[in-house]
Amino acid sequence: MLIRRAADIKPSEITPEGVYLNRREWIAAAGVMGAAALAPQALGALGTPGQSPAAIGTPFGLQKDDKPTPWEDVTGYNNFYEFGMGKEDPAANSKQFKAKPWTVRVEGLVKKPADYALEDFIKPNKIEDRIYRMRCVEAWSMVIPWRGISLADVIKRAEPTAAAKYVEMTTLFDPARMPGQRARVLDWPYVEGLRLDEATHPLTMLATGVYGRDLPNQNGAPLRLVVPWKYGFKGVKSIVKIRLTDKQPANTWQVSAPEEYGFYANVNPEVDHPRWSQATERRIGEFLKRKTLMFNGYADQVSSLYSGMDLRRNY
Ligand code: MTE
Repeated sequence: MLIRRAADIKPSEITPEGVYLNRREWIAAAGVMGAAALAPQALGALGTPGQSPAAIGTPFGLQKDDKPTPWEDVTGYNNFYEFGMGKEDPAANSKQFKAKPWTVRVEGLVKKPADYALEDFIKPNKIEDRIYRMRCVEAWSMVIPWRGISLADVIKRAEPTAAAKYVEMTTLFDPARMPGQRARVLDWPYVEGLRLDEATHPLTMLATGVYGRDLPNQNGAPLRLVVPWKYGFKGVKSIVKIRLTDKQPANTWQVSAPEEYGFYANVNPEVDHPRWSQATERRIGEFLKRKTLMFNGYADQVSSLYSGMDLRRNY
């Protein structure tokens, strides 16, 4: 997603990275093609390698052929520029990161601003396991069994004032602990935002885990946003601050490249990214591309949030 001068970009990089298969997937795909005559269960087994714990949770918006993405892909193929720009960098470079103790500040247009120790922040809320389809703006996707709490519950507890219209969330800024922040590849700290009605939608979660375990560092420990009908960059990781405001927050990717990334970032197969199509996606672990669904398959639940809006202009 990074913006560089054209002269610095190799032709092989122009296609978003997710469209290419990584080495292990090439091997798996070659295995499928070579073993086309094998029994169907042998093919199915590719989606569930031994290291995946059982996928726990209630499926939300899943199609018949959606299977949870294996643990090793969910935790080994990540975007988290604070730990490097390659897909395998976050897992490799976040091993020393300590996500405890952790404080979350809730502030802005609320009657009850507070600093919470993470445990106190989470404890009063209902913890749920929910399996969501997730779609990255780079045209790859996963199905992830998240564990977490409802952002609506957190916001309700803070008692927003009548003036609050948006929610802004900010990642930890600590270059000593997040080595990627020593380079100015983005305007740190990473910031994301939602309209208040999006933030309080019942699908919107603050995740504390995947596959029933605490979040691995590379997935945004100890707390990250999950909004399944939006492109993955909305899912800000390692959150330290939640601020209610009356102005639309300036989100990091829109600030970095406004002609490429907007505030809304709703998954929309009809509105292409300026450099690639959004009509199809590659499910990590699969060989053939899938058609991308409007609002990532959650249109029934969320399209009313955007009635009357021009989704091409508000991308
Ligand atoms: N949050 C922070 N702080 N820094 C990042 O670089 N990358 C975003 C999002 N949240 C990012 C971030 C992008 S582009 C995606 S696709 C998702 O995290 C990836 O989440 P995952 O690695 O858990 O799949």
